[in-house]
Amino acid sequence: MTEVLHTRKELAAAREALTGTVGVVMTMGALHDGHETLLRAARERADHVVVTVFVNPLQFGPNEDFDRYPRTLDADLEICRRAGVDLVFAPSVTEMYPAGQPVVRLDPGPLGADLEGLSRPGFFHGVLTVVLKLLQLTRPDLAFFGEKDYQQLTLVRRMVSDLDVPTEIVGVPTVREPDGLALSSRNRYLSAEERRAALSLSAALRAGVAAAERGDDAGAVLAAAHRAFDSPGARLDYLVLTDTDLEPGPVGGPARLLIAAWVGATRLIDNVAIHLAPRP
Ligand code: PAJ
Repeated sequence: MTEVLHTRKELAAAREALTGTVGVVMTMGALHDGHETLLRAARERADHVVVTVFVNPLQFGPNEDFDRYPRTLDADLEICRRAGVDLVFAPSVTEMYPAGQPVVRLDPGPLGADLEGLSRPGFFHGVLTVVLKLLQLTRPDLAFFGEKDYQQLTLVRRMVSDLDVPTEIVGVPTVREPDGLALSSRNRYLSAEERRAALSLSAALRAGVAAAERGDDAGAVLAAAHRAFDSPGARLDYLVLTDTDLEPGPVGGPARLLIAAWVGATRLIDNVAIHLAPRP
């Protein structure tokens, strides 16, 4: 049975009653098959699964979509029930931030100011602050994050390691539509025409993977991805090839290709693993 909790007091009591290992999946709701895959991964690895549903105002900029971000709690609970989730924690903003905006926030360091952080200043301060709070409140053995948000996953791993948080972070591969589009709660903002333009992101990544498989070097992989990003309806923000820790300039071996683009008023991101031929 799935128990739904709205206050930290209710959560503390329900968490206390769980015996065995606990896995947490943190979300902003509007759950889709990508989130569901995280729930199932948690179900497989842990005795109990806790899901948090909270649209975190701290990670939205002043001109971003906090107010219009989709909120679909009833449908979310149905998905959680189906996936065998034990507890759903869905607090209000005042329950999470009773003293108003937190004065002390997590500093994500230089990586927090790069890529997503360049377009969204303060975003990762907000993400890491809420993730740490939710880790404290749910006290999980395991926490599951999607590779879809690769920079977020990387920074959460780094935070847990730098700050000695006793939780194992598990990365889960990106779930895509059959045509390649990575599932995202923001896809529901797209018109039919924008949905077609949005395919440019995954097309660019696929071209990069294909180039790497042919043995192309880093420069040629990036060039192939740029050529495939070919849509008048999509405006590129960044397309970069990094090492797997998001440090710049891989020359051989495992790497990551990351993209962000605007499609109409919607900003989308995606990324993929790349295996560059080893350096001669
Ligand atoms: P949200 O965008 O709701 O995503 C919740 C989790 O689902 C994240 O770990 C995200 O990477 C994962 N996810 C989203 N789409 C996915 C897909 N197509 N395939 C696999 N995993 C996917 O990320 C956040 O919320 C917030 O920043 C949060 C961590 C909850 C902090 O507020």
